[in-house]
Amino acid sequence: MNTISENRPSTDADAMHDACFDLARGIAAYTASSLVAGLARVIGRHPDADIANAFNHKQVASKRWACDKLFETLGGHYERIVIVGGWYGILAAMLFDDPRFSPLRITSIDIDAAVETVARTLNQAAGARFDTMTADMYAVDYGALGADLVVNTSCEHIADVAGWLARLPRGSRVLLQSNDYFAEPTHINCVPSVEAFAGQAKLASLQFAGGFRTKNYTRFMLIGAT
Ligand SMILES: C[S@@+](CC[C@H](N)C(=O)[O-])C[C@H]1O[C@@H](n2cnc3c(N)ncnc32)[C@H](O)[C@@H]1O
Repeated sequence: MNTISENRPSTDADAMHDACFDLARGIAAYTASSLVAGLARVIGRHPDADIANAFNHKQVASKRWACDKLFETLGGHYERIVIVGGWYGILAAMLFDDPRFSPLRITSIDIDAAVETVARTLNQAAGARFDTMTADMYAVDYGALGADLVVNTSCEHIADVAGWLARLPRGSRVLLQSNDYFAEPTHINCVPSVEAFAGQAKLASLQFAGGFRTKNYTRFMLIGAT
């Protein structure tokens, strides 16, 4: 006789997924956080998305660091922020959720078509203030986008940081992150130090340069203009 109810998950993985979904919804209800509600929506609608990796404590800490230094360096008001290599739209969600920031619009660009719907689900509460593009960041017409800040926290994932920066209109304000996590196979262009990162980017003006130590690697960040 089959004693398993039709509503009960059929595998341990299903059970874990359902538990994560319930927990995220509970935390969202308790904290009234639209960001956590977005994470719960992603867990429910996109069970295959690697959202636990994208929102792990190290990722969150380094994006929190980006928000803090961005606010200290350039303030919180932006007409349009363009984030390239935006992945699941975590940084966009954190900027929308942070009361220090009032971006009118954030556009998240990624070459991977699979991340687009996940980023939209996560940022659903932002409505028309959030949009996405599936594109190679080297092929985007940045002049047409008219961003007042371009963010790339995926510099370790692209082969030619200076070549990409050269595509931006001269004087573009940028926030860039890379790291020294050479052991990760998808990192094709790590740097050993923030000085090496600054040498790679060759920004015309540099307002912030620093490092953020995590257990396995140091993340480097530059804020300035091309
Ligand atoms: C692992 S994720 C993000 C890593 C980064 N350290 C972070 O936390 O923001 C890197 C993203 O860059 C994207 N990417 C890589 N090359 C790209 C390109 N040429 N144009 C646009 N997106 C790209 C990948 O598809 C992926 O979603």
